Amino acid sequence: MPLEIVRNDITKMNVDAIVNAANSTLLGGGGVDGAIHKAAGKGLLMECIKLGGCKTGQAKITDAYKLPARFVIHTVGPKWKGGNHGEKSLLESCYRESLALAKEHNCETVAFPLISSGVYGYPKDKALRVAIDVISDFLLENDMTVFIVIFDKAAYKISEKLFSDIAEYIDDNYVDAHTDYSRESMRMKMPMQSVMAADFCECRASDLDSKLKQLDESFSQMLLRKIDEKGITDAECYKKANIDRKLFSKIRSDVNYKPSKTTAIAFAVSLELSLEETEDMLRKAGFALSHSNKFDIIIEYFIENGNYNIFEINEVLFAFDQKLLGA
Ligand code: APR
Repeated sequence: MPLEIVRNDITKMNVDAIVNAANSTLLGGGGVDGAIHKAAGKGLLMECIKLGGCKTGQAKITDAYKLPARFVIHTVGPKWKGGNHGEKSLLESCYRESLALAKEHNCETVAFPLISSGVYGYPKDKALRVAIDVISDFLLENDMTVFIVIFDKAAYKISEKLFSDIAEYIDDNYVDAHTDYSRESMRMKMPMQSVMAADFCECRASDLDSKLKQLDESFSQMLLRKIDEKGITDAECYKKANIDRKLFSKIRSDVNYKPSKTTAIAFAVSLELSLEETEDMLRKAGFALSHSNKFDIIIEYFIENGNYNIFEINEVLFAFDQKLLGA
């Protein structure tokens, strides 16, 4: 999955580069800066002294010494002063400059803390949005795996409104397992010919043969058909689905490939399918959406609201302790 949100201590991340939320002296401090210097050992400070500091919004790279990573990319985030002092563009620059340095040093995996969201007071939900927007834009053009590392889940914040809207939607729709009559299980109870009839009345008689063909096409065939119908490239589809190239080529080359449920849904979201089409695509992979499953209800919320931003969906899935979309 090219962009993952994980709970961890960034000093433990076994990646090519970890990013440090430093201050302009680069001589260490508290928070993640202190944790990284402590774990890396003296060598890191010795190297930082030679760098002669760093401007806000800029980034510099050093070795990682005793850390499991190969590099530490030090960047200096903006102090939050209410939001009208260019804080957002400076924070965007921190992510952009750090990603550029990681790319320059051929890093395949990079881990970020939520820069400026601690001592520097940047509201966590706004800081997370900036991180996700800049990183996901970068990943549309570059092959890299990027982790956003959340240290203290309690402080993890998506916007209050979004959180309460979804919590309400879950309450309205969540049913216990034994009483769940998901759309799919209702359809499965209808004899085949009436499902056919239901499908039939939705389309002109002349589409009957393509409808019949679609009924028995595989997941992979439907995915490729939808990519063609949408007029997008394979790369646009799998990047928007937060799926890496290797997995996509496996699916493309195996007509009977059976993806995981999160992968199937990630493609449905990437193709901006309706709920019906999503259920159809899931059925071809052997799955169904169910109201006894919070993950499914959150997906349904986003599709019903026409919000297909997979990174925003993952932000919410993470907040509700659910699996994330993508490989
Ligand atoms: N791993 C991952 N994330 C961490 C860790 C850790 N070990 N420790 C803290 N964090 C998180 C915090 O929870 C916060 O969400 O990193 C985010 C950034 O918080 P700070 O470390 O306080 O950094 P920042 O807000 O950018 O302030 C930078 O603080 O430590 C000093 O020297 C630093 O002066 C600079 C200022």
